[in-house]
Amino acid sequence: MAMATWTPSSMPDLTGKRAVVTGANSGIGLPTALELARHGAHVIVAARNPVKGEEAVRQILREVPGAQVELGVLDLADLGSVRRFAAGVDALDLLVNNAGIGLVPRQQTKDGFELQFGTNHLGHFALTGLLLPRLAERPGARVVTVSSDAHAAGRIDFDDLGLERGYGRMSAYARSKLANLLFALELQRRADRAGVDLKSTAVHPGTVATNFMRVGPLQPLVRLLLKSPATGAVPSLYAATSPDVRGGEYWGPGAKPMRASATARSEELAARLWEVSAELTGVHFEQLAAR
Ligand SMILES: NC(=O)c1ccc[n+]([C@@H]2O[C@H](COP(=O)([O-])OP(=O)(O)OC[C@H]3O[C@@H](n4cnc5c(N)ncnc54)[C@H](OP(=O)(O)O)[C@@H]3O)[C@@H](O)[C@H]2O)c1
Repeated sequence: MAMATWTPSSMPDLTGKRAVVTGANSGIGLPTALELARHGAHVIVAARNPVKGEEAVRQILREVPGAQVELGVLDLADLGSVRRFAAGVDALDLLVNNAGIGLVPRQQTKDGFELQFGTNHLGHFALTGLLLPRLAERPGARVVTVSSDAHAAGRIDFDDLGLERGYGRMSAYARSKLANLLFALELQRRADRAGVDLKSTAVHPGTVATNFMRVGPLQPLVRLLLKSPATGAVPSLYAATSPDVRGGEYWGPGAKPMRASATARSEELAARLWEVSAELTGVHFEQLAAR
């Protein structure tokens, strides 16, 4: 018997749950925040631009009158901003590490990291570590990290994290998405070892028509081939709320399981990336120190 496609209408009631969605002002993040709010969660729309963030909050309130939704200002390319944002979050059941920057020319974060790795990976690594004490207080807490099937082309050279030996927009993006996936899987292993009740999963949204996919003159035609942001949010929403999801899984379009590359499944690489990321960000996940 063919299984019916999962849709957000299958989401459980989330009343009393508190969620943070990064990059919730745009693209896949906005319908992710909207559906969580529609199902009763208190949602913090984390956005780097407060004007865009407020507009997203208003849009959610128009769709879902009475929604529990608020803005939090968060620039993942600035560890000071990540710390200020995290300090303002007092209880948390769900963190969706969704924000991302891709395919941009060579740039650096405020702290001097290559921009795509610094924003997509190090910013979310630090944010997750700083919010972990809040998540660990809540039974059934989850962290969903938005990776991409582009991770399969990624490679990490720890001797050249700044990509001084050659910068490619796509290879820098693929590296950051590989780091997202290695992080999501390693977070689950470390939570399990430390006995912390947490489900960490990764998702690939599919190829989605968002600001991210600026496709120039072909846009109207290409857009027809791309998924809508609401469809792109399905894997995140499924991983965030379905009772059938287990920690360490990687979900894709249509809430179907995806396969992580062999590199993404390497425990040795994941452990090294974790140690290097802790060193670079100064965020050490003390609660996950193996007991
Ligand atoms: N679209 C696709 O086909 C596709 C495929 C695979 C994976 N993904 C992943 O899906 C996620 C969402 O992307 P999207 O497609 O929805 O793109 P999008 O419309 O460009 O949304 C990206 C979001 O991230 C935010 N962001 C960027 N840099 C940030 C920073 N330094 N601090 C805080 N927020 C920041 C953006 O804020 P601003 O609005 O201020 O720029 C925006 O809200 C990304 O992780 C991306 O890698 C997308």
